[in-house]
Amino acid sequence: MSKLDEILGEAQAAFAAVDSLPALDQAKARFIGKSGLITEQMKGLGALAPEARKAAGAQINQVKDQVEALLKARREAIQAAQLERQLKEESLDVTLPGRGEAMGGLHPVTLALERIEALFATIGFAVADGPEVETDFYNFTALNIPEDHPARAMHDTFYVEDGQLLRTHTSPVQVHYMQDHQPPIRIIAPGRVFRVDSDATHSPMFHQVEGLWVDEQASFANLKGVIQDFLQRFFERDDLRVRFRPSFFPFTEPSAEMDMSWGDGWLEIGGCGMVHPNVFGHVGIDPERYQGFAFGLGVERLAMLRYGVDDLRLFFENDLRFLKQFA
Ligand code: FA5
Repeated sequence: MSKLDEILGEAQAAFAAVDSLPALDQAKARFIGKSGLITEQMKGLGALAPEARKAAGAQINQVKDQVEALLKARREAIQAAQLERQLKEESLDVTLPGRGEAMGGLHPVTLALERIEALFATIGFAVADGPEVETDFYNFTALNIPEDHPARAMHDTFYVEDGQLLRTHTSPVQVHYMQDHQPPIRIIAPGRVFRVDSDATHSPMFHQVEGLWVDEQASFANLKGVIQDFLQRFFERDDLRVRFRPSFFPFTEPSAEMDMSWGDGWLEIGGCGMVHPNVFGHVGIDPERYQGFAFGLGVERLAMLRYGVDDLRLFFENDLRFLKQFA
C-alpha cells in the first residue's frame, strides 16, 4: 500500500517537472511502460497468496488509473500552454496600416474600346467577335477582293502557316456574322488587326471597330447619322462635324473615307460604305431585298485624339510613366 502511494507521489512530481510532450512520454514510461514501476507491481502479484491477490490487484489498478488521469491532465495543460505561446508569438496587430497595394489601371486603348462598345450599345448594336488568324477567303475573297486584285496591295499582309494570314482589318467579321445570321443585323466588331506597317501613325498591330447594319431600309443617310452621333458623344462635343470623302473599298459601293473636324482641319478616322451586292452573294443574303452599310474605325486614332497622345507607338511600349496617367 505505502509502496503504491510512493509511486503515485513520484508520478505526480515527475509529470509536474516536465513541460513538453516528448518529456512527458519519457516520464510515463517510468511508471506504466513495459518495465515501469506499476507494471513491476503487477508482476509481483504472482508471489502473493491467492486470497490476497485480488485485493492487491484492485489497488494496483486503482493507482494505475490515477497515474493515467494525472498523465492526461498534464498532457492537456502542456498542449494548452503551447497553444497559448503560439498565439502570442503569431499575434497580429490589426491596427497597423496596410501595405498599400499599387492599383492598376486600364490601358487607354481598352478604355477607348469600352467607351465605343458602351456608346454603340445605347443605339442597339450588339458586339460580335471573329478570329485574328484568318483564311484568304474571309479576309479577301468573300469581301469581293479576288486573287490578283490590286486592292490586295492596299493591305500589307502577314502570312502564317498553311496559307493562313493575320487579318488585316475587322471586315471579315461581317462575313462570319452574315453567314450565321439573317437580317436585321446591327453589330459592331472590335478587335486587333495586323499590317506590315510602322511609323508614328501606323502600327503593325492596331485595333479597329467594324460596324454593320443590314435590313430592308438601312441607307447611307443612316450611316452618316450613326457616325456623327457616335463621334459627338465619344468626344463629348456637339459641334464636331463629320465629312465623307468618296473613296474605294471593294466590299462597299459607294464607298467613303470618314473625316472628322479637329481644330482648324480634318482628320481621317475610318472607311465606310454600302455593303456590296457581291458580299451579300457570298453569305446568302438577298441583295434585292436587303441593303446595309458598314464602317471600320481606327481605335488608336480615336484614343490618340481623345487622350491627346501624339505618337501611336506610345500605346505599345508599355512605359509605366505613360500608362499611369490613365489609371
Ligand atoms: C479598312 O480597313 C476597311 N476595312 C474599313 C471599312 C470597313 C471600309 C467597312 C468600308 C466598310 P482602312 O485600311 O482605311 O480601311 O483602315 C481603316 C482605319 O484604320 C484607318 O482610317 C485608320 O484609322 C486605321 N489604320 C489603318 N492602318 C493603320 C495602322 N497601321 N495603324 C493604326 N491605325 C491604322
